[in-house]
Amino acid sequence: MALRITKARRINELPPYLFAEIDRRKRAALARGADLIDLGIGDPDIPTPSSIVERLLESATKPVNHRYPNSLGMPEFREAVASWYKHRFDVTLDPAKEVVSLIGSKEGIGNMAVAFVDPGDIVLVSSPCYPVYHIGTAFNGGKNYFLPLKKENHFLPDLDSIPSDIAKQAKILWINYPNNPTAAVADRDFFRRVIDFANRYNVIVCHDAAYTEMGYDGYRPMSFLEVDGAREVGIEFHSLSRTFNMTGWRIGMAVGNSELVGGLAQAKSNLDSGIFQSIQEAGIEALKLGDRIVEPSRKIYQERRDILVEGLHAIGLECEKPRATFYVWVTVPQGLSSAQFTAKLLDEASVVTTPGIGFGEAGEGYVRFTVCVDKTRLKEVAERIQRVKL
Ligand SMILES: Cc1ncc(COP(=O)(O)O)c(C=O)c1O
Repeated sequence: MALRITKARRINELPPYLFAEIDRRKRAALARGADLIDLGIGDPDIPTPSSIVERLLESATKPVNHRYPNSLGMPEFREAVASWYKHRFDVTLDPAKEVVSLIGSKEGIGNMAVAFVDPGDIVLVSSPCYPVYHIGTAFNGGKNYFLPLKKENHFLPDLDSIPSDIAKQAKILWINYPNNPTAAVADRDFFRRVIDFANRYNVIVCHDAAYTEMGYDGYRPMSFLEVDGAREVGIEFHSLSRTFNMTGWRIGMAVGNSELVGGLAQAKSNLDSGIFQSIQEAGIEALKLGDRIVEPSRKIYQERRDILVEGLHAIGLECEKPRATFYVWVTVPQGLSSAQFTAKLLDEASVVTTPGIGFGEAGEGYVRFTVCVDKTRLKEVAERIQRVKL
């Protein structure tokens, strides 16, 4: 007799996978030979700089690296993270207590809830957002309270709109600037308000800083930890993925308040065995080279951003020119939902984008474009979209 297999409620209760329909249409388009321009994924198409790859190759020959790594990260990697934070943000970190390595920041974001969310706890999450924040809450029995990111508030959450009974019960507030998917940025004043809120209501602040190195026109996004009082209330998640074109390598870090870093480390050490040491050594190389290897990518993305945004403006689509990230958050033309607009772009222009609704209810009315294809392809995008019947 066949086994009756039932998935855990946390899996069965996952929201419907809104990208499945896009995936189906994408596959159908490819099957009919369509020449797709894929602006759906946020994954750098620029290869990892060769000096980082070489460091991995050299390091992988050493037997010492073939054994289990420490789940918290090699001391040398944590020191390299601390030096990078000092150099880049003028933030001083104790590598032993205020830094932990992550198997990509996604892992740490998910495990933050394992460490700090009990069933019934309220977690404040933006809508739209990177989905792992609210999935982490849900997987651990917490309750998400969504804060809409609205254009009139520059896509920053309105903390004053949170009812005080919710704020009093909240355990964690997730923020992410520069932001995926809206490409919005935050300034010191916003971070100060976040710290005031956290102190008033005893709320842990988790800042996802994955995109701080992707700022354009000379703009350098700041770390939350640069602000006075941030270390008392918060933890920051960062990643080598975007910064050094290393999405496939799975390496990132969480830094900040030692109790928060320690709690996350405790959850992790019970669940994973860390990052292959040779990848950590390659990560050290990346962090040492820093801006020398980031600047060329920044130039490429900035040029691509200009091509895409100018093209979209020329055909009457509304979007702001982002100061950071590799996303462009485009307003859906009147009369269409974000899913309908995305479907039309795919079916009639062979351009793949992501519907805003896929990032949360308040993402409706927008579509996210990325600039992860080369500029000759990006130049075609507006020409193709112009032919779509809207
Ligand atoms: C806002 C944000 N945070 C975190 C991640 C995860 O990055 P990684 O796990 O590669 O470090 C992503 C990836 O798309 C993201 O957009």
